[in-house]
Amino acid sequence: MKICVIGLGYIGLPTSLLLASAGHEVLGVDINRKIIEKLNRNELPFIEPGLEELFQKAKNHFHADSRLQSSDAYIIAVPTPVENGLKIADLAAVKNASHAILQVIQEGQIVILESTVPPGTSELLILPILQENGVKTIYFAHCPERAIPGKTLYEMVHNNRIIGGIDKESAEKVKDLYASFVQGDMFLTDVKTAEFVKLMENTFRDINIALANEFALLAEEANINVWEAIHLANKHPRVHILNPGPGVGGHCIAIDPMFLAEKSSTAKIIPLARQINSSMPIHVIKMIKRMIKGVKNPTITLLGLAYKGNVDDIRESPTFKIKRIAENEGISVKTYDPLIQDNLENAGTLEEATKDSDCLIVVTDHDVFKQIDPKKLSMRHKNLVDTRNILDHDLWKRNGYQVNVLGDGTN
Ligand SMILES: NC(=O)c1ccc[n+]([C@@H]2O[C@H](COP(=O)([O-])OP(=O)(O)OC[C@H]3O[C@@H](n4cnc5c(N)ncnc54)[C@H](O)[C@@H]3O)[C@@H](O)[C@H]2O)c1
Repeated sequence: MKICVIGLGYIGLPTSLLLASAGHEVLGVDINRKIIEKLNRNELPFIEPGLEELFQKAKNHFHADSRLQSSDAYIIAVPTPVENGLKIADLAAVKNASHAILQVIQEGQIVILESTVPPGTSELLILPILQENGVKTIYFAHCPERAIPGKTLYEMVHNNRIIGGIDKESAEKVKDLYASFVQGDMFLTDVKTAEFVKLMENTFRDINIALANEFALLAEEANINVWEAIHLANKHPRVHILNPGPGVGGHCIAIDPMFLAEKSSTAKIIPLARQINSSMPIHVIKMIKRMIKGVKNPTITLLGLAYKGNVDDIRESPTFKIKRIAENEGISVKTYDPLIQDNLENAGTLEEATKDSDCLIVVTDHDVFKQIDPKKLSMRHKNLVDTRNILDHDLWKRNGYQVNVLGDGTN
């Protein structure tokens, strides 16, 4: 098939390359010229395990351009953030992509929406745009993506998928298309249920992280180590408590629950969980301030800009909230993340970021941070806050550090 993928980000590009490696002719379209130029120079715009090898394998069947062409199928994988301040989905990119498809769509072609959207968006917003020119037979389905950064390729192939068609024929056609590379099971439903299912999945995660965060705060008050308590509670056959942390980031879990609750006057637990998770950076600030109490003109070092370990995605990362709050309180902040390039907030080397610092804070659980040798740092004060419980705390204490671990009320 000739397939046009609109949006070549963390979801659209791997999807394009999997389709191309399955033998389809894929045109990847993006409004960001830098991405198109990079791909046409044979370079990838972001890091993802296995993507480079797949790119080399698939590139004869893949082209990148800024303009769409009429194709057998169109896959929309553009961003769906929350509109700043309003806590309402910003669907501008989805609308623009639909208008771009409208210019080239013909009878009998397939449109697939992979972007995450509030329930009803496909029928109320996208389909009316696609039908503006009077094309009658369009096959349409919403196929929300479930892949996790860091394991995107494996999960795109092996995860089970939900395909919500506007009718059975649409769902069947889209299932056939995905079957060219998906090995997981594919479940067919209607379009609105598919939209709802995706949001339920991420809301489930958000609420469970909020519960873990609440346990962490309670454990600190009760002088208990939450990490040990969670480990033990998870020995129960039907309990699986997630890890607490400095806040929830990324383009999905921190946003999608709001899509579910945005038009509801009855949702209670969803906004509450959001509130708990978005207040975690404030708790981290309190932990830091306890460590640097009495220090004049303090400087702190935040380890990690990415919102989670071993990825280079900084969207909604709690690091930025911690940084801004600290700066607003007169604390100088340096950040270090070896996985992030081209970000002005990044201090360069670990040595530069930690020199004369008064407190080191692990915000992101990158594996590389576990290898840091405390002896090699020239901190002004030896203070460590570990919000992910990933360092060898005895080692740091042996090297003279005061250590404070999020959720550990025994320190
Ligand atoms: N990243 C994830 O882990 C993940 C997982 C599941 C679902 N999703 C959903 O998938 C969708 C895409 O997410 P992403 O992480 O790939 O986003 P992204 O920001 O990495 O990529 C989106 C790309 O779309 C491009 N774009 C924006 N408007 C466009 C337009 N009108 N025409 C063409 N290109 C356009 C952007 O330039 C960008 O390169 C979102 O709805 C997201 O919620 C993401």
